[in-house]
Amino acid sequence: MIRIAIAGVGNCASSLLQSIAVARRNGTVSGLIRERIGPWGAADIEVVAAFDIDKRKVGLPLSQAAFAEPNCTWVFERDLSVHTTTVCMGPVLDGIAPHMLEETEERGFRPSDAEPVDVAEVLRASDAEILVCYLPVGSELAVQHYAQACLDAGVALVNCVPVFIASNPEWEARFRKAGLPLVGDDIKSQLGATIVHRMLAWLFDMRGIRIDRTYQLNTGGNTDFRNMLARERLESKKKSKTASVQSMLGEPIPAGNVHIGPSDYVHWQEDNKVCFIRMEGRGLGDAPVELEMRLSVQDSPNSAGVVLDAIRCIKLALAGGFSGALLPVCAAYMKSPPQQMHDLESRQQCDAFISKFS
Ligand SMILES: NC(=O)c1ccc[n+]([C@@H]2O[C@H](COP(=O)([O-])OP(=O)(O)OC[C@H]3O[C@@H](n4cnc5c(N)ncnc54)[C@H](O)[C@@H]3O)[C@@H](O)[C@H]2O)c1
Repeated sequence: MIRIAIAGVGNCASSLLQSIAVARRNGTVSGLIRERIGPWGAADIEVVAAFDIDKRKVGLPLSQAAFAEPNCTWVFERDLSVHTTTVCMGPVLDGIAPHMLEETEERGFRPSDAEPVDVAEVLRASDAEILVCYLPVGSELAVQHYAQACLDAGVALVNCVPVFIASNPEWEARFRKAGLPLVGDDIKSQLGATIVHRMLAWLFDMRGIRIDRTYQLNTGGNTDFRNMLARERLESKKKSKTASVQSMLGEPIPAGNVHIGPSDYVHWQEDNKVCFIRMEGRGLGDAPVELEMRLSVQDSPNSAGVVLDAIRCIKLALAGGFSGALLPVCAAYMKSPPQQMHDLESRQQCDAFISKFS
């Protein structure tokens, strides 16, 4: 088994937990990128510790916390009885934006007044091997606190949040020195706005169409979108998403002509994320080319499929004694890896990494 801990039992965590539960019962779950990585399938992941700060989740078994408000993701498995660990109170730090306290019950966060645990101590006591970090955007201090706890407890990290840890050379070096692998930052969904926009940018570039302007507008109705209504928390997300698209182009688009980011919160959309992409370019003789696209997905299962791969790649690295950022895995599965690669290249390098360490 692969023993993981989860920080932040929100919508993404709920999708991950549901997929593991289905795989335990049926041997597998539909929609995986890779059925097996080394000997491991999705059923081989066990959640041994979990942290949150919301009073509707802390102290509950994970099987119930995954469905507690304000979670609103697509439910494809109700029976999460395989997940028996109790959710611990984490340190709040900057995990809660002030406006999230003023929202209604179904939209906002409600901090518990329980005493926070010592995260490193819980990681050690539970014998966790990997921590999956699912904190809200803008939780700089809280993500760093969990990353430090990983270093202290000897636990590897999958950082799904746009707080720069794997892509920060100092943090990366600390994990490498501690002999721990990590994958980050900011999960790239299985078929989401980022990978589609990257592929379109590459297609224009490859076919000699110069891109004059592009936007990617995203709307959603989950707490992730609600949280990002605070502009100051949004900066890292915009930076992460924009750099991911720009990195596919031989020549980047001038900053004033590219607009990419979470755009608005539409309550009734819940976990349904809708993305609008527009591209304006010029072909032969400067002939105009325009493309408009709309993508509609369920946000959280779309990211959990990728996390299932990241966890199993980290387990391979742990078994093979590899430490530091797993570069091809970060490039394939994260918006802000330490080193950007074309998605075809990172896919090939991931395949090579998996074969080598399997
Ligand atoms: N497709 C996707 O959904 C996707 C893609 C890329 C990145 N992400 C990122 O993944 C992260 C998680 O997304 P989500 O939709 O599950 O968010 P969410 O808002 O549903 O969940 C966040 C959870 O973190 C908890 N929390 C807040 N502060 C905490 C702390 N200090 N310690 C422990 N728990 C704390 C909240 O109570 C909540 O349960 C976000 O940063 C998001 O941007 C998601």
